Amino acid sequence: MAAKGKDTFGETFLDEIGGRACVQRVHQVLYGKLFSHPWLKGFFVRSKREIVESQQTDFWVALMGGPKDYGGRSPKDAHVHMFLPAEVFAIRHKLLEESLIEVGVPAAHREKWLALDARFEAAIVNRSPDECHGRYRSEEVIIVPKPA
Ligand code: HEM
Repeated sequence: MAAKGKDTFGETFLDEIGGRACVQRVHQVLYGKLFSHPWLKGFFVRSKREIVESQQTDFWVALMGGPKDYGGRSPKDAHVHMFLPAEVFAIRHKLLEESLIEVGVPAAHREKWLALDARFEAAIVNRSPDECHGRYRSEEVIIVPKPA
């Protein structure tokens, strides 16, 4: 994966935005939007909101140079059981932008955050369900058709 947080964020980024509490708040707002989005909510049917929020927060805090508490899968391995087309990635990216604005993350910090988020696209998006498989033997691939 090409994304390297420290280079993008610098040493003081996390303190400047208000530490882990800010990252947590952004993800609370983001997952509120994801879990109620008519299409994207379908990808989270097997997920517990508090768990994905805290995993996502640990993941980003570590990227931003904070404590390395994230012990989950790499983004590619974490999403291999879902057919995630580019349009789904773009919708989530837009909802992240709205969440950053709502929480009041300053524009310069917002731009850096979004730039790094965009760099995960290649790891997360797939072109066809054939590229997907369960993360363990009995796990079924999640395919969510776009609502009419
Ligand atoms: C920059 C984009 C993204 C990043 C960095 C990211 C990161 C992560 C991380 C770190 C986890 C926890 C994985 C684990 O511990 O196993 C996760 C889980 C998850 N992500 Fe993403 N994600 C991104 C985009 C998306 C998109 C576009 C969707 C689709 C709506 C999505 C849906 C999910 C779901 C459903 C889970 C829970 C998987 C489970 O059941 O364990 N993610 N993501």
